[in-house]
Amino acid sequence: MKASVMKPIKVGLLGIGTVGGGTFNVLRRNQEEIRRRAGRAIEVVMVADLDTERAKQITGGSVEVVSDARRVVSDPSIDIVIELIGGDGIARELVMTAIANGKHVVTANKALLAKHGTEIFRAAEEKGVMVAFEAAVAGGIPIIKALREGLTANRIQWIAGIINGTTNFILSEMRDKGLDFDVVLKQAQALGYAEADPTFDIEGVDAAHKATIMSAIAFGVPVQFDKAYVEGITKLSATDIRYAEQLGYRIKLLGIARRVAAGIELRVHPTLIPATRLIANVEGAMNAVVVNGDAVGATLYYGKGAGSEPTASAVIADLVDITRLATADPEHRVPYLAFQSNEMADTPILPMSEVTTSYYLRMRVADKPGVLADVTRILADASISIDAMLQKEAGEGETQTDLIILTHETKEKHADAAIAAIEALSTVEGKVSRIRLEQLK
Ligand code: HSE
Repeated sequence: MKASVMKPIKVGLLGIGTVGGGTFNVLRRNQEEIRRRAGRAIEVVMVADLDTERAKQITGGSVEVVSDARRVVSDPSIDIVIELIGGDGIARELVMTAIANGKHVVTANKALLAKHGTEIFRAAEEKGVMVAFEAAVAGGIPIIKALREGLTANRIQWIAGIINGTTNFILSEMRDKGLDFDVVLKQAQALGYAEADPTFDIEGVDAAHKATIMSAIAFGVPVQFDKAYVEGITKLSATDIRYAEQLGYRIKLLGIARRVAAGIELRVHPTLIPATRLIANVEGAMNAVVVNGDAVGATLYYGKGAGSEPTASAVIADLVDITRLATADPEHRVPYLAFQSNEMADTPILPMSEVTTSYYLRMRVADKPGVLADVTRILADASISIDAMLQKEAGEGETQTDLIILTHETKEKHADAAIAAIEALSTVEGKVSRIRLEQLK
């Protein structure tokens, strides 16, 4: 049928908060261009939100507003459900019901997919419906499309991303103003950059959800959030940021997925990166992802990882994809996780002890002969090679000083053992501050 005479595709929206409101507004504002691209009109016909008054205000009375989201997922007139509720409680139930009722689903819900993606994609495949989730990773950046389609020729080697804007904002402020984490967090909350409960962001969980989804698409493995290593930024000090800078590095919270001989590394942690890398210069709440493929080399994707219309941009891209493909044979659509579902690999996600990386180590040591020799002996015995070192002059009247060592690559378990041995030295005070370092070559 000619596109111009096809009936509009009907959409039900679950949640009309920041992203839902943006989606509604952009769809309305750009409806003519979107129709020309999609081949038929995309019409939001029902919105569910607990705050029905706000929903009515945003929609201006043009669509049916309900408080019970179950009505949307069971309405026979609706073709596509957009889930913007978040979390893996009621949202999971609604998505599964929408799929069971034969509806396509667009979601921005990274927690849901990182934890329950396997179940959701299996159910969707059985029903022959699409589940699209561009907005779940890095907001407005079309990274899912790039990984799944644009880079499909490549054997992807690694992905490294700044995929949480809140923590990148905090780290940028800590570096710019020399302030400690707690102080900046409070400021970020006051300015509305960080949630009242920022746990998921600052503990690295949100970034790990996103890294998990990217790892599945990059390597053709199931989503396995439970195997990800997750470390946030709460223990980072302004001191380490300053020393890293003196050594030519920036500290960023990176989500990393890397293919190595023994399996896949999937990890989120603060990471030193050379200050000369483009991604090291991504500041404030912006996101960026570097993907390294064997054919293309490194490619970089940069943009807003959150916010009303940036995220709406990704949601609507999914709506258009589904609109174009809704009448296609399900077997000829792009697979959810880029690889055909019967071609998924069981490559293991490696435990952190088996991960290979370099390290920044900072320790407080007695300023007397032989101390440096003891530390370097421990590293040499563990076959850990030193890349650079920085020793501060002891301050006036001080008997201790800071010693900073950058290592070459080693396995985490060897670094753990060496750090324990260094901490046991009587000339080393307290704990060694350890931050992983990646050259991202
Ligand atoms: N809270 C996220 C961030 C945005 O700070 O980037 C939504 O994933």
